Amino acid sequence: MRLYIIFILVSGLCHNLQCIQLGNPTDPIDLQLQEKLLKILERIRLERNYDTIVIYGQSGGEDCLFHELLPKLQLPTVLLTKGSSLSDWSFSSDSLLLCCDSKAEQEQNTRSLLRLQQARRLVYLESEMQPQWLCEDYFEREQHNVAMMNAQGDLFSCRLFQEINHVQLDINSDSKYNSDSIYVQQFRNMKGAVIRSEPDQLAPRSMLYHDPVTGNIKMGGYVANLVNTFVERVNATLPLRDDLKFGENYGLFDLIKRTHHNQLDIATSLLGIFGDENLDYVSYPYYSTSYCFMLPVPAKLPYNQIYTIIVDPPVLGIIMVLFVILSLLLIYSQELSWRQLSLANVVLNDRSLRGLLGQSFILSDNPSRHMKAICLILFFAGLMITTMYQAYLQTLYTSPPLEEMLHSFEDFQNSRYKIALWRYEMEKVESISNVSLSTARNIAIFDLYTDFIKIRDTFNASFIYTVSKQRWRTYAEQQKSFKEQAFYYSDDVCFSRFVLFGFPLRRHLPYRQQFEQHILHMHAFGLTQFWISRSFYDMVHFNTTTLKDYSNTRMHGAVFLRDLVYIFEFYAAFHLLACFCFAIECFWARFRRTVAIKNV
Ligand SMILES: *[C@@H]1O[C@H](CO)[C@@H](O)[C@H](O)[C@H]1NC(C)=O
Ligand SMILES: *[C@@H]1O[C@H](CO)[C@@H](O)[C@H](O)[C@H]1NC(C)=O
Ligand SMILES: *[C@@H]1O[C@H](CO)[C@@H](O)[C@H](O)[C@H]1NC(C)=O
Ligand SMILES: *[C@@H]1O[C@H](CO)[C@@H](O)[C@H](O)[C@H]1NC(C)=O
Repeated sequence: MRLYIIFILVSGLCHNLQCIQLGNPTDPIDLQLQEKLLKILERIRLERNYDTIVIYGQSGGEDCLFHELLPKLQLPTVLLTKGSSLSDWSFSSDSLLLCCDSKAEQEQNTRSLLRLQQARRLVYLESEMQPQWLCEDYFEREQHNVAMMNAQGDLFSCRLFQEINHVQLDINSDSKYNSDSIYVQQFRNMKGAVIRSEPDQLAPRSMLYHDPVTGNIKMGGYVANLVNTFVERVNATLPLRDDLKFGENYGLFDLIKRTHHNQLDIATSLLGIFGDENLDYVSYPYYSTSYCFMLPVPAKLPYNQIYTIIVDPPVLGIIMVLFVILSLLLIYSQELSWRQLSLANVVLNDRSLRGLLGQSFILSDNPSRHMKAICLILFFAGLMITTMYQAYLQTLYTSPPLEEMLHSFEDFQNSRYKIALWRYEMEKVESISNVSLSTARNIAIFDLYTDFIKIRDTFNASFIYTVSKQRWRTYAEQQKSFKEQAFYYSDDVCFSRFVLFGFPLRRHLPYRQQFEQHILHMHAFGLTQFWISRSFYDMVHFNTTTLKDYSNTRMHGAVFLRDLVYIFEFYAAFHLLACFCFAIECFWARFRRTVAIKNV
């Protein structure tokens, strides 16, 4: 009984202390190999830590060398004995892959394949296999972080962009002092290898030009610059097709399709990430922007309307009340009695009227103190009113006020403008924001993006356009050379205030990480901001825009006679009224006289 317990204890301890060799004794050569392997694993861990171990394969139905080591590593381990994972595993990029032989890894699951592309691999090399072949094999699968160990315990590591595609490393040397680490950044120097890319030629993102020195076709613009600098950074080359036509827009979709089909590595273009894109095909976002409308600056009020708007009804009412009060005061102060009070004297008091209009009038010979005081008030009121209206009128003539601004989508629909939309954009927005645009009243839908751009680039003021803030900056810059600003950016009405834009990439792009790091570096250096800020000048330089003035010169500086037509109409109407009053007065006087004679 006691013996039995001790046995259980010992076997439990043995299990915990990894005395696995007690169980199945191995020959000394195997032990030596294990020792070497542990050393290699330790060195790999020192280079960069790994948190998961994935073991591919089994040698001849039984555990291979790597399985025997597992208890000593004490790390989460995934065993893929059939060479492939069945379901989507989100492996971390810090996984270490151990392959039992050169054929062990046969990953079929595309998700795992992508997740494990950057992971480090250590392959056990069979005696009949050459390191060179293995490296070729792995490079073909676009898996570049590969090291291998053979039965003698020699360590090899694959090297891309080198004449001999692998190196042998000394296991015993201390990695701290050995510059040659096991896994290196293969794409740090691509030694002139080709990166396939093509610009979408959507100014100002990417534009083509002839290099003035070599005459070759090159691309510029803030998106192209990022690709160009990346190519330069990794010492690659970017040959552009000779038959690219300048200004010909192949369209974003064509480029995206070609990256999906592995015909392009990086498309020199940007894809808006609205949430339903497959992120395997998009890089880290290059920038974020808002996506709103640009609206024509409202027209200025025509001159002939200015007379009608300066007379504000409440102010007019106050002036009327003032007129009546002053008339009453004048009537009373004349004789300090209400004897002269009558409706005609109040409403048609000519002295009060003239005084308020700043005209002169005759005072009685010896005006009383009260009369003088009232007249003083009247003069001041007249002075204020005439100067106020004169200033008002002259200011409005020099800078007429704008017609009403549009602040909502309902305003757009009730305005005289049409809303220009590109069909793809409209469908995208409809699917995201659950609004139905196609039923709106005044929508103009463009099937081709180029048509849409063409009309937007000419600042045609019959339309309201969608535009990203990034693109708007160039329009704002362009308008600085206009006589008058033609459009303004509406922050009120937006499809989205936050859209991310990333580069369309090939799915298994092996240097995706470097490329994304490059994006971040360019941001950190402020180069992205710099390129974007000068994108309009790039457009002018690459002849994709003109410095033509597209502003609306509806308003002319001079005032014409027709602008004063309302005033003349008023003038004529009041003259007629005066004549009419005069005629009545004449008839009334004659009538009274005949009545008086009859009475005599
Ligand atoms: C860049 O690549 C070229 C081959 O295209 C090679 O001759 C050159 O040495 C490389 N530059 C560096 C700094 O390695
Ligand atoms: C979209 O709008 C319709 C009505 O306009 C509504 O019935 C539907 O529930 C909305 N869907 C979502 C996802 O909000
Ligand atoms: C603006 O576009 C409309 C419709 O396409 C066209 O009739 C009009 O002539 C254009 N205006 C200018 C100034 O080009
Ligand atoms: C710029 O483009 C216009 C047409 O878009 C063309 O007529 C002109 O020759 C070009 N200028 C230069 C310097 O390339």
